[in-house]
Amino acid sequence: MHKPLIAPSILSADFARLGQEVDDVLRAGADIIHFDVMDNHYVPNLTFGPTICKALRKYGVTADIDVHLMVSPVDSMIEAFAEAGASMISFHPEASQHVDRSIELIKQSGCKAGLALNPATSLSVLDYVLDKLDHVLLMSVNPGFGGQKFIPTTVEKIAQLKNIIDEMGLNTRIEVDGGINKDTIGDVYRAGADMFVAGSAIFNTNDYKKAISDLTQQLK
Ligand code: DX5
Ligand code: ZN
Repeated sequence: MHKPLIAPSILSADFARLGQEVDDVLRAGADIIHFDVMDNHYVPNLTFGPTICKALRKYGVTADIDVHLMVSPVDSMIEAFAEAGASMISFHPEASQHVDRSIELIKQSGCKAGLALNPATSLSVLDYVLDKLDHVLLMSVNPGFGGQKFIPTTVEKIAQLKNIIDEMGLNTRIEVDGGINKDTIGDVYRAGADMFVAGSAIFNTNDYKKAISDLTQQLK
């Protein structure tokens, strides 16, 4: 059993004070920082790139940075983010021409490797690569924006993936991303997820410590 990790998505942070926001959320009990990279091509929104990741490292952030690439092409961004201090990198299989090669690239760069699956993407994309992955990110909203409503069919998908992982005797983490709040986190935890991305449920409050403890209290 993995230690559950709370991963605030800085997509909903105040970008004008990003370093302070990351410090604040880590001090409030966050485990890792979720970093949503969008390119207005693979997804209909545009966020930030490797220079911002590097700036957070330079500012002094030592926590793991979990980079969620919603970009196409993928491979050049893997190299750039590894160089910029990423700890974990996930990408969407539809965005890469050669999924296995992109996974290898992440691992060779020294980062933990993940695949990110959209709500309508089948678990079958994992068939020949699951044993190479450190984590699988299951999207519980369509990628592109924070603050969307959790898609409930994700719970069953998590349970199915957890079964596959256990049957194969793997140690792969299951990360869930989108619409996670104190009302949805319990079900996804009990279905087998162990990494919880939350953007608006944390950053859209004025008490990050309370927001995080409201989430962790549901992990039972
Ligand atoms: C959506 C992003 C998510 C998003 C989560 O494309 O991958 O990480 O920021 O935000 P909330 O928690 O507000 O749904
Ligand atoms: Zn994300």
